[in-house]
Amino acid sequence: MNVPRPLWPYPRIVAHRGGGLLAPENTLAAIRLARNLGFTGVEFDVKLTGDGVPVLMHDDTLERTTDGSGAVADASYQEIAKLDAGSWFGNEFGGEPVPSFAAASALCREAGVWANIEIKPSPGQERETGEAVARTAKLLWTGSHPLPLLSSFSALALEAAAVESPELPRALLVVEVPPNWLAQLDRLQCVALHVSHRYLDAALVKAVHDAGRGVLTYTVNDSETALDMLEWGVDALVTDQLDAITPAFA
Ligand code: G3P
Ligand code: MG
Repeated sequence: MNVPRPLWPYPRIVAHRGGGLLAPENTLAAIRLARNLGFTGVEFDVKLTGDGVPVLMHDDTLERTTDGSGAVADASYQEIAKLDAGSWFGNEFGGEPVPSFAAASALCREAGVWANIEIKPSPGQERETGEAVARTAKLLWTGSHPLPLLSSFSALALEAAAVESPELPRALLVVEVPPNWLAQLDRLQCVALHVSHRYLDAALVKAVHDAGRGVLTYTVNDSETALDMLEWGVDALVTDQLDAITPAFA
């Protein structure tokens, strides 16, 4: 499986939402756990609090992953920072906070863990989230190599990120691959396509590589699929199964 893939200077096996299924998603505990299991790359989701602070959070609302309620975009950072983002997952994670983007960056840098930062705007905040995440990431990862990779399902967010911090690499996230994928990658100046494994095949991997771009696939949770994907030449895969699909896989 040691095919050189010069388009991809990043880790090949990436922990989804920090710690996959082994820790509460998008927390520092999750990133620490991934690091302790030998992962050198994590994916996490970033959105803005009501007062514009980037924090790690997947959903638009607080209910599923914290003891708070309501929209993230309606709560201040001070309110969100007091919430418990760990107990829903397990008592041993009780009191785990919603991390600021800055805290996640500090941990990643200190631990030597690369980040795929998914820009996950609340509805209607696509541009401001893309801009804020790109501006903050540029400062937080100054001098880091390789730089983090910004990805998003939102073309508006990627556009804003490109204007704000053109030097930070970007990837377009899709579920199904749209027919105009190459035009979109060109327009948004993306270095990679991030695509659901359910809609990927070997021909598409080749086409993306022929276009000079990398391919990451998500969320690959069984070993057989992971091996198929790597066979096809996929550059990286994002997984929840940190104990089964380990960095040793690639
Ligand atoms: O970035 C890959 C993956 O995280 C996208 O889906 O919903 O888990 O953020 P989601
Ligand atoms: Mg994500």
